[in-house]
Amino acid sequence: MFDVLRPLVSSIIDSNNSSDVKMQDICELIKAEVPHYDWVGFYFKNGDKRELKLGAYAGEPTDHNIIPFGKGICGQVAESNQNFIVPDVKAQDNYIACSITVKAEIVIPLFMNEENIGQIDIDSNTANPFTKDDEHFLEFVNSEVAKIL
Ligand code: SME
Repeated sequence: MFDVLRPLVSSIIDSNNSSDVKMQDICELIKAEVPHYDWVGFYFKNGDKRELKLGAYAGEPTDHNIIPFGKGICGQVAESNQNFIVPDVKAQDNYIACSITVKAEIVIPLFMNEENIGQIDIDSNTANPFTKDDEHFLEFVNSEVAKIL
């Protein structure tokens, strides 16, 4: 599945659309094609502030447009610069719930010139669905997006 999606992501990056449209198209593509992706979004550092701001996303609207560094899974990744897989969100103390249907989450930092400038965040309604394959695929997606920022 991910091997089929990689060239599709690259073709979105190579299209003539704006960066915002490209990121929106990527969110919609991977949410539609990966069965265990139920919400897909990009958060980016909000200027000079120690907070993340929601960019493109596909799935239900969320109240969490702004997430302070350190808060929730996303805010922790903003500080750790590390991939974060949460197999069971109920087992996390520092977690911000967006929807009661969400069972698992993966957040992968997005680097530009080796600086952590944002992240891709995926919520899943399936328990413990994420593997190394998801990590590698989402690292690829972020490296592609970094080219257009
Ligand atoms: N669950 C995230 C918040 C963002 S929503 O999933 C869209 C977190 O704990 O950081």
